[in-house]
Amino acid sequence: MKVCVIGGAGYIGSHAVYELIRDNNEVVVIDNLSTGLRKAVHKDAKFYEGDITVKEDLVRIFEAECSKKPFDVVMHFAAKLIVPESVSMPLEYYHNNVEGLRIMLEVIKEFNIKNVVFSSTAAVYGEPVHEVCSEDDRTKPINPYGATKLACEEMIKWVSAAYGMNYCIFRYFNVAGADKSLEIGLEKDNLTHLVPITIQTALGIREKMQVYGNDYDTKDGTCVRDYIHVSDLAYAHVLGAKYISENNKSILVNLGSNEGYTVKEVIDEVSKIRHVNYEYVERRAGDPAKLIASNSKAKEILGWTPKYTLKDIIETDMAFRDKIGRK
Ligand SMILES: NC(=O)c1ccc[n+]([C@@H]2O[C@H](COP(=O)([O-])OP(=O)(O)OC[C@H]3O[C@@H](n4cnc5c(N)ncnc54)[C@H](O)[C@@H]3O)[C@@H](O)[C@H]2O)c1
Repeated sequence: MKVCVIGGAGYIGSHAVYELIRDNNEVVVIDNLSTGLRKAVHKDAKFYEGDITVKEDLVRIFEAECSKKPFDVVMHFAAKLIVPESVSMPLEYYHNNVEGLRIMLEVIKEFNIKNVVFSSTAAVYGEPVHEVCSEDDRTKPINPYGATKLACEEMIKWVSAAYGMNYCIFRYFNVAGADKSLEIGLEKDNLTHLVPITIQTALGIREKMQVYGNDYDTKDGTCVRDYIHVSDLAYAHVLGAKYISENNKSILVNLGSNEGYTVKEVIDEVSKIRHVNYEYVERRAGDPAKLIASNSKAKEILGWTPKYTLKDIIETDMAFRDKIGRK
C-alpha cells in the first residue's frame, strides 16, 4: 500500500509509520511539527511539512505524490489532545481537529482517495455506562477534546455515505510504551499520562507523584484503566487499512487490552524496578472509577490481539526515557 500518514511525526503516528514500513508499505508523512518531532519520522518515509488546516499545503503535497502513484490509504493522527487545554481553548480545538479534518476530507475527495483511518478516543464515551466499554455504548463527551473527536467521527460517517469512502475509526484507550528499537517513544514536555509520570518519578525527574483518590469502588480504591502498548495499537492500523481497502467496508472499533489495572498496580509494577514516591490527594472531577475497553470487535474483525503486557509497556517506556536522558 502507499499510505499517507498525517501527524506521522507525533507519538502514535510515528509508531504507525514504523509498523507500516516493517510491513513493506510505502509511507509519506505530513506534519506541521506543532507537537511532533522531525527526528521521529522513520528514515524510509518521505516527509513533508504541512498543516491540515491549510488546504493549499495538502493540495501541493497530494499533487506531488498522487501524480506518481495515488495514496491507497490516508491515516489521520493530527490533532490537539490535551483535555484541560481543550477546556480553556475550545475554539482552537474545533479549528485544528474538526476544521482540519473537514479540509483533509475535501482534499481526499478531490483526489479520489477511497480509504481513511482515523484516530478517535475513549473520551467520546464520557462517563461510561458500563465498566467494559463496547463500541455501541452511549457517546456523551464531557470535555471539548472528546466533543471534537465525536464531531470528527460523525463527519467521516456522513462523508463516507455521500462519496463512497471507506473508513476505519479506532477509539484508543490509554496508550503507553515505546518501540522495541527505542528509536521513538513518548517525548514531550509536561506529560500528563500515568505511565510516563510514574516512570519519571521512579527515575527521579519528579520528586513525588500524586494519585487522585483512593476511595473508589475498586480493589484498592484507586481508578482502574486499560493500558495498551503503542506498538500493538500501531500495528492495528496496518490491519485496519488492509481490511477496509480489501473488503471495501467501513469499521469502528475500540483498541484496548480488555484488562484493567488500578493506578496503584501500575505504581507497584514500576516500583519492582525502582522506588516510586507518591501521595494520595483528593479525587479529580470527571474521573470515572473504571474504564476498560471491550476489544472483542477488533479481535473478531481484524484478528488483532495485543501482544505486549503492562510489564512490557513499563519496561520499554523506562528504557526509552533512560536513552533520551531521562526526560
Ligand atoms: N496519546 C493518547 O493516549 C491518545 C489517546 C486517544 C486518542 N489519541 C489520538 O491519537 C492521535 C495521535 O496522538 P498522539 O498522542 O500521537 O499526539 P501527538 O501530539 O504526539 O501527535 C499529533 C501529531 O499531529 C501533528 N499535528 C497536529 N495538528 C496538526 C495540523 N494542524 N497539521 C499537521 N499536523 C498536525 C503534531 O505535530 C503531531 O506530530 C490524536 O488524534 C489523538 O487525539 C491519542
